[in-house]
Amino acid sequence: MSDTKSVKQIKLAYQQRIPNQLVTAVLVLDQNLAIQYANPAAEALLIRSFNKLYNQPLANLFINDPIKQERLNQLLLSGQEFSDSDVILELFVNYKITIELMASAVTFEDLPHILLELKQIDQQKNINAEAFQHQQWESARDLIRGLAHEIKNPLGGLRGAAQLLSKELTQSQQEYTEMIIEQADRLTNLVDRLLGPNQLPNMTQHNIHSVLEKIYNVVRFDNNEGISFVRDYDPSLPEVTFDDDKLQQALLNIVNNAIQALEHNGTITLKTRAATNKTINGKRIKLCASICIIDNGPGIPTKIRDTLFYPMVSGKTNGTGLGLSISQTLIHQHGGKLSYSSKPGYTEFEILLPIINEASL
Ligand SMILES: Nc1ncnc2c1ncn2[C@@H]1O[C@H](COP(=O)(O)OP(=O)(O)OP(=O)(O)O)[C@@H](O)[C@H]1O
Ligand SMILES: [Mg+2]
Repeated sequence: MSDTKSVKQIKLAYQQRIPNQLVTAVLVLDQNLAIQYANPAAEALLIRSFNKLYNQPLANLFINDPIKQERLNQLLLSGQEFSDSDVILELFVNYKITIELMASAVTFEDLPHILLELKQIDQQKNINAEAFQHQQWESARDLIRGLAHEIKNPLGGLRGAAQLLSKELTQSQQEYTEMIIEQADRLTNLVDRLLGPNQLPNMTQHNIHSVLEKIYNVVRFDNNEGISFVRDYDPSLPEVTFDDDKLQQALLNIVNNAIQALEHNGTITLKTRAATNKTINGKRIKLCASICIIDNGPGIPTKIRDTLFYPMVSGKTNGTGLGLSISQTLIHQHGGKLSYSSKPGYTEFEILLPIINEASL
């Protein structure tokens, strides 16, 4: 008998504690659809303490009307459970979250109540969208690499044959073989860029600002009248492990794009900050170095935004569209992330480089 009692006690103790540990937000509503219970996850999701939530009609919490009263009343009457995905809760002006909702009936002190389970999904959605973009980018890059590789092999033969042929020709005829050699060299150059970086990075600890200063010194003397540069560095940023040459190349591609977009009129800001708790490629990173390159130019053309990092995507008449794809590869080689946001007058490319890793999510 005492055994049974202790099992009951254990069960009760778990029942009392578990709602506090759940990541899913749980609310209990009474027959007036007022909140009678909210677990800590619900307090966090709704950004209100239990004291503020207690006895509040559910509808008062939202600016919009995400959960229809009729459906809740119907649930009280008939016990008919329902669930909805992609429910948008507008908690404050300009603050919306997307949740998955499960509503079911519970009886409490012999009276019907409603149990609501709310699971936030917008963070998960962002991660999924990012992973999808990454996969797409990888397939496009692999396709182009395969193609480039196939072009590169016969190009060597073509150039060699033209060289041999030129020995058989008169001076004036050699003009043609020179043209073949010149064009073959141009194509080899392009194909090498298409193939992308082929060496593993040589990682050592550096101060990120030394790289940015090198870039600043290269570009400010390089026929860039009309463009002013602002350096906004966080001097407390710890050293980061990276390959100096590769990071320089990645950053230079981005800075050059900003310079080209500004057309001799505007400002480029090189900004560094520490960033905490970021997700890179599905992994939670505790501390990152954030490097931003910001310009006040016209913004990225809308039609190339979704595929911006793909190879051969360019908004310029004479662009090869390889700069950002190469930067992306180089930054991935560092376990980092390249992202952007853009509107007319403000374009920001952000590079995140991990400083302190944390266990996989
Ligand atoms: N800061 C920016 N402002 C406006 N548009 C930009 C900016 N950065 C990139 N872009 C757009 O993104 C396109 C792709 O850039 P990317 O560097 O990959 O290729 P590209 O500059 O066209 O050619 P490449 O770098 O190979 O010479 C550019 O053509 C441009 O239209
Ligand atoms: Mg470019």
